[in-house]
Amino acid sequence: MKMRVLVIDDEDAIRRALDRFFTEQGYTVVTASSVTEGLRHAAEQPIDVAVVDLVMADVDGVEGVRRLRQCCPDVVAIIMTGFGTIQSAVEAMKAGAFHYVTKPFELEDLARVVATGLELRTLKVENRILKQQLRERYRLGNMIGQSEAMQRVFSLIEKVAATDSTVLILGESGTGKELVARAIHYNSRRAERPLITVNCAAIPEELLETELFGHVKGAFTGAAATHQGKFAAAHGGTIFLDEIGDMSMKLQVKILRVLQERRFEPVGSSKVAEVDVRIIAATNQELERAVKERRFREDLYYRLNVIPVKLPPLRDRRSDIPLLVNHFVKAITVTNNSAVKGVTDTAMRVLMRHYWPGNNRANGGAQGGGDARSGGPAAGPATAGRRIPAT
Ligand SMILES: Nc1ncnc2c1ncn2[C@@H]1O[C@H](COP(=O)(O)OP(=O)(O)OP(=O)(O)O)[C@@H](O)[C@H]1O
Ligand SMILES: [Mg+2]
Repeated sequence: MKMRVLVIDDEDAIRRALDRFFTEQGYTVVTASSVTEGLRHAAEQPIDVAVVDLVMADVDGVEGVRRLRQCCPDVVAIIMTGFGTIQSAVEAMKAGAFHYVTKPFELEDLARVVATGLELRTLKVENRILKQQLRERYRLGNMIGQSEAMQRVFSLIEKVAATDSTVLILGESGTGKELVARAIHYNSRRAERPLITVNCAAIPEELLETELFGHVKGAFTGAAATHQGKFAAAHGGTIFLDEIGDMSMKLQVKILRVLQERRFEPVGSSKVAEVDVRIIAATNQELERAVKERRFREDLYYRLNVIPVKLPPLRDRRSDIPLLVNHFVKAITVTNNSAVKGVTDTAMRVLMRHYWPGNNRANGGAQGGGDARSGGPAAGPATAGRRIPAT
């Protein structure tokens, strides 16, 4: 995947020079003549590196870096300064810039700074992902089920994880839909890229759109800064749309478009953003009925239902109950430091007969979502002799 570089400078010639240079180096380049325009780009397309001029008419580079980092926390920001005073450099670093270069500078030097910044970012992101994966792996190891029904689910997970196909996870509340989504992502080729979870039922309808697609500054009252949406954040990875059955018809149209074209428009922007994401959706609703009742778009249903993973309710796989009971007793014993060794045969018989409306949910606690971005630096040919002049 090509790294994206955003160049913000109000001087035409510099923009053009940097555009040409970074393109040659194998980057995708976006240029902007002001911070405002740059932020709009950043909201539309995930940005890996930003090269920002310090002195500009509308908003200066230091403030620009501050806003960029708000919008895209992992961006490697580099300031170009014509004055090179310690003061402005310190300010830029405080605002979250990775480094600064003083005009005049060799393009080669800038390339080195960019490469180092990307390397550092990759390490940071990798570290975060590794930690997260440790937790995930532990959790995957905890996914219990020896019943035939669950064994079938596990082998289906393995099969779909190897593809890039859209997956629809269906099952009653507490059957483990979220665990399955994680298992698919972390066993897929996207495992090192982010898994972004969005609970479509937990976010008010009017916020969900900006949450998913992001918004540009001034898109609506209170939109003080540009914000990257979840789709952009999931670039290269997987987005898990949980409780999709609760999504409004209006948003369903937008989701359908992303599914078909992998494109969307941030709120308040007319520019189309492209993303590379895998979509996994889940619901405890009967979508076919929702389609009949016109609460759910039929076309979206078919687009999502490419590979359905149906999770059986616990009462239909009672042979797993003793395993789950022992698993949860052990977990509770460890957490509460209690001396409970297990349950008696009589108690187990009662548990085996129980209806289990909440299925596997033992504690009612929600699991946290993962979020990370990564990517490797691009290496380029020699670039000696090209220079950006002093201003
Ligand atoms: N096969 C399993 N083995 C062990 N624990 C499980 C299993 N399936 C689910 N759990 C546990 O049960 C709880 C509910 O699982 P999860 O959140 O994945 O369910 P869900 O289907 O997404 O539920 P809801 O529809 O309520 O969101 C979690 O604590 C999860 O760790
Ligand atoms: Mg869930």
